[in-house]
Amino acid sequence: MARVRPARDEDCAAIACLRCQTIRHVNARDYPADVIRRWATKENAGTLRMSGAGCKRWVAVEQSRIVGFCEHTFDGVLSRIYVHKDRLETGIGSRLLAVAEASLERLGCKRIMLDSTVTAKGFYAAKRYRFVKKGTYGENASEPVYKMLKTL
Ligand SMILES: CC(C)(COP(=O)(O)OP(=O)(O)OC[C@H]1O[C@@H](n2cnc3c(N)ncnc32)[C@H](O)[C@@H]1OP(=O)(O)O)[C@@H](O)C(=O)NCCC(=O)NCCS
Repeated sequence: MARVRPARDEDCAAIACLRCQTIRHVNARDYPADVIRRWATKENAGTLRMSGAGCKRWVAVEQSRIVGFCEHTFDGVLSRIYVHKDRLETGIGSRLLAVAEASLERLGCKRIMLDSTVTAKGFYAAKRYRFVKKGTYGENASEPVYKMLKTL
């Protein structure tokens, strides 16, 4: 079973690689190719290292290999959660989400907000996130995201 621990600077290369693979193989089912290309290449180990101070980030680890990560801001926004393309639907996303939710609760947050991808909407709905409204993402704000909310 995956173990969840706080992310470290030296995890950033593996996190960037996992993020890119998941977008290319999993989110690609729901978004057009040009969107996927831009989205997948938007981050790398360096950008993740820089953004690390502005959020709390965790990794899920199986046999020393990073198989998922998630992060939240300090003000109640779950900013991302990705699971390795070969380890979907094995409970890793649930474990990461539970850790992030507990962390936000410890920070005193009363509610969690997020912009869900089309891909993850069913996952969040299963975790009792409520759909609030549709938003957009991407260069021309043309791709849909779903604004969702959970009251703790
Ligand atoms: C969304 C994501 C993190 C879920 O991770 P996961 O490890 O596959 O999820 P789990 O195995 O913990 O699944 C938990 C429950 O949600 C359900 N579920 C998972 N993904 C789902 C989906 N895309 N649609 C509907 N239900 C889903 C599972 O069937 C499971 O239900 P159960 O508890 O009744 O058995 C993963 O699919 C992912 O990385 N997606 C691509 C990246 C992405 O879009 N991230 C969201 C950014 S906002």
